[in-house]
Amino acid sequence: MGNEMRIVTNGSADKYLFTDVIEIDSCKTIILDITNLDAIRNIVKQNDIKIIVNCAAWTNVDGAEAPEKYELVEMLNAKAPENLAIAMKEVGGLLIHISTDYVFGGDPYNTPCKEEQVGTPTGVYGLTKLHGEQNIQASGVNYLIFRTSWLYSEFGKNFVKTMLNLTSTKPQLKVVFDQVGTPTYAYDLAKAIFDIIEQRKYEGNTGIYHFSNEGVCSWYDFTKMIQKIAVELETPETAETFGTHGDCNVFPCHSEEFPSPVKRPAFSVLDKTKIKETFGIKVSYWTDSLKKCIYNLMRKQ
Ligand SMILES: NC(=O)c1ccc[n+]([C@@H]2O[C@H](COP(=O)([O-])OP(=O)(O)OC[C@H]3O[C@@H](n4cnc5c(N)ncnc54)[C@H](OP(=O)(O)O)[C@@H]3O)[C@@H](O)[C@H]2O)c1
Repeated sequence: MGNEMRIVTNGSADKYLFTDVIEIDSCKTIILDITNLDAIRNIVKQNDIKIIVNCAAWTNVDGAEAPEKYELVEMLNAKAPENLAIAMKEVGGLLIHISTDYVFGGDPYNTPCKEEQVGTPTGVYGLTKLHGEQNIQASGVNYLIFRTSWLYSEFGKNFVKTMLNLTSTKPQLKVVFDQVGTPTYAYDLAKAIFDIIEQRKYEGNTGIYHFSNEGVCSWYDFTKMIQKIAVELETPETAETFGTHGDCNVFPCHSEEFPSPVKRPAFSVLDKTKIKETFGIKVSYWTDSLKKCIYNLMRKQ
């Protein structure tokens, strides 16, 4: 998400600073460990920061289940957001935080989840992200929390890039069809956040909001669409770098076929009525955004 925030804020009249826990090659980045409250306070004071957009988190859902990791996951997903909230409260600023559809999942929902629905996480990742939301709310800071789902982009490791690779290298593939949600192009979320900041729409609108692309699909449908778009965009030049994607047979399967340390939500579609009505945001259909991302990956090299 941080990479997309860099892209959408490029050229803004406001000043944006980017931080990470490590040095990022070829990007201007200030080193900041958000588990350290004093380090956050210093950066906020030195740079007169009024708004923080927190894209950092522990995001390895399976890895979060290892008992020895609990303390670290809770630190990153719950304590660090609290630190950011405390630092922003002290200067009367705004904290914008990204949360997840995985705060839901414990009940068999079949209608899109609204913001006020009680969180029922099924694993440590979702539970600690829920704690992060609660800590921010309890701090008394001005905040916007955006819960999103199934994030992908041109950057880092994500489902779209994994499936582009697998459909070009494997003769067949099984993907679960009993987990349903909505993919979200991280660029679209970053753009929505940027518009809210630039147009000062956050004023008087503190709270939790849901954002994903429009529509609903299973991970199986998502994979089939990734493959279809890749085949449509293929040229002899792209085939040299990315291979060809049409020969892989993709089959639907049940979650039980992929033993996992964590039970993932069967239905975690987010209802976006509130964000659309409050901020006047137009949301793209998931396949339209997916086409843009795969185009950027395959053709814009
Ligand atoms: N990915 C999804 O499908 C998904 C779905 C719903 C919601 N979300 C939420 O969306 C947000 C962004 O997710 P993402 O997929 O973009 O995550 P990501 O690629 O895993 O990025 C998380 C970032 O946090 C950094 N970080 C880790 N520990 C830190 C620390 N102590 N101080 C400062 N930075 C630290 C990481 O640095 P290193 O790379 O050096 O570790 C990494 O750059 C997260 O809040 C996540 O919970 C993600």
